[in-house]
Amino acid sequence: MRERILKFYNPETNLSLTQSSLRIGQRLEYEFGGKSFNVTEDFLKLIPKESPLKDRHFNTCAVVGNSGILLNSSCGQEIDSMDFVIRCNLPQIEGYEKDVGSKANLTTMNPSIVKRNFGQWHNKTTDDYDRLLRRLKQIGDQILYVPAFTTPREEKNVRVITQILLEHKLPIRATFPPARIKMNSLIKSIWTKAGFKMLALRPSTGAHMYTLAATICDQVHMYGFYPFSEDKRGRALSYHYYDTKKMIGKKTHNMPEEFRAFQQLHVRGALVLHIEPCH
Ligand code: CTP
Repeated sequence: MRERILKFYNPETNLSLTQSSLRIGQRLEYEFGGKSFNVTEDFLKLIPKESPLKDRHFNTCAVVGNSGILLNSSCGQEIDSMDFVIRCNLPQIEGYEKDVGSKANLTTMNPSIVKRNFGQWHNKTTDDYDRLLRRLKQIGDQILYVPAFTTPREEKNVRVITQILLEHKLPIRATFPPARIKMNSLIKSIWTKAGFKMLALRPSTGAHMYTLAATICDQVHMYGFYPFSEDKRGRALSYHYYDTKKMIGKKTHNMPEEFRAFQQLHVRGALVLHIEPCH
């Protein structure tokens, strides 16, 4: 898989825009929606001088999805023992450490998360704003990966993230995959070329993160990937380990299809899919 992916995907340059490639006032075209993003002085301040993944390679990595399968898994210690841990969509960790661990070297954050999980952020006196800020502070100086150029609908949320990081001088290493890459189409075509069906409009964050991990890690361990409402023993599962939302069919993704691809890759030894408890 690494060889196949590396033909089209460069983990260093695809991770983020860098300062030398941008100027204030530049317009970056969204992948969907036909509009463009204006590079402001504030936005530019967050852009790294060089990719935080430059020359990085790891032996073991964990890619942690957010499925309810992780609840009562006791996988926290195992996840934290990996050399590099990737988490998706700024998930809640506090209170779930025994099952999901706490290490996070790269955390993704779709801009839509601001509204979805921290609805009242725009009022700085609310609990939601405090929660968002606290959660971002927990990242410390590790990588926050923000796919900012998927659709113009999320521009407001991207500005909010920018503003919070700057205003609170957070040490986070923010990264923004370059707009020109058209990341969703790229990941989808990589998987299709590798022989997997990818009928959904967009690959999920988890599929995207496996693609990245396969290029920088010798062993990729996947936890929390289980897009079904019951486990094999008939235990009811929530969609996320950290809330009680039910599993619903997504319009944009086809996670069961991706899960079947992960199962095949597991059989071939290209990843280790953990769906059983760790104790
Ligand atoms: N996931 C899974 N099974 C679940 C929930 C999530 O396999 N029951 C995986 C998916 O690959 C998903 C990733 O974990 O992309 C992160 O979960 P979540 O934050 O819930 O993703 P969504 O916001 O639903 O979707 P996305 O970020 O992919 O648009």
